[in-house]
Amino acid sequence: TSSFIVAIDGPAASGKGTLARRLAATLGFAHLDTGALYRAVGLTLLRTGHAPDDAVAATAAAQGLDAATVLPLMNDPALRQDAVAVAASKVSVVPEVRAALLDFQRNFANHPPGGAKGAVLDGRDVGTVVCPDAPAKLYVTADVEVRARRRLSELRNTGAEAIYEAVLEDMKVRDARDSQRAVAPLKPAVDAFLLDTSMMDAEQAFVAATDFIRSRP
Ligand code: C5P
Repeated sequence: TSSFIVAIDGPAASGKGTLARRLAATLGFAHLDTGALYRAVGLTLLRTGHAPDDAVAATAAAQGLDAATVLPLMNDPALRQDAVAVAASKVSVVPEVRAALLDFQRNFANHPPGGAKGAVLDGRDVGTVVCPDAPAKLYVTADVEVRARRRLSELRNTGAEAIYEAVLEDMKVRDARDSQRAVAPLKPAVDAFLLDTSMMDAEQAFVAATDFIRSRP
């Protein structure tokens, strides 16, 4: 297809979501937060009283997701809860769940909604598995302590009580689960542009990413 695909991967709270939204808005591209798909599966399990590590129920939930059910869910604040993030990281190790979500993601990338000329997808395996031929791949990361600080202030901004040590520990557990799973582990694509935002603010990350994308064919 002729859709220009920007693939952005990286760990939690690396700044990839903020970057992806801003790039999409600037380029006039469609944006897909692929983590929201895994969160939607996790949320479905929690709401139907299934354990988040119930692989059979997770597979059924993933197979039941389509654009009509997923797109309205994307803006549901329930998706952002920590319990849902944990459930998402558990369902995401199930190969059948990943397979069920693959078509949706590829279709979005190749045929962006609204007739956009391109799509920005952010997640863990966009550049490695979902869109391995994307012309522009970025791997956004930051030191785990920096990411825990960012997550802590996000949580406090929403009025939640949070303790730095607990947030840091959660972050390490989720990093380990995402990078050590057998199927589509979190890792940079060999041809990804590495963007370490440990010492950058959102503006500096945006400028660096834009320069890189402009250099791509
Ligand atoms: O990015 P976000 O924190 O919303 O992702 C939630 C979880 O979904 C991640 O911890 C990861 O386990 C999973 N995920 C994934 N592949 C993606 C996006 C997210 O496995 N492409």
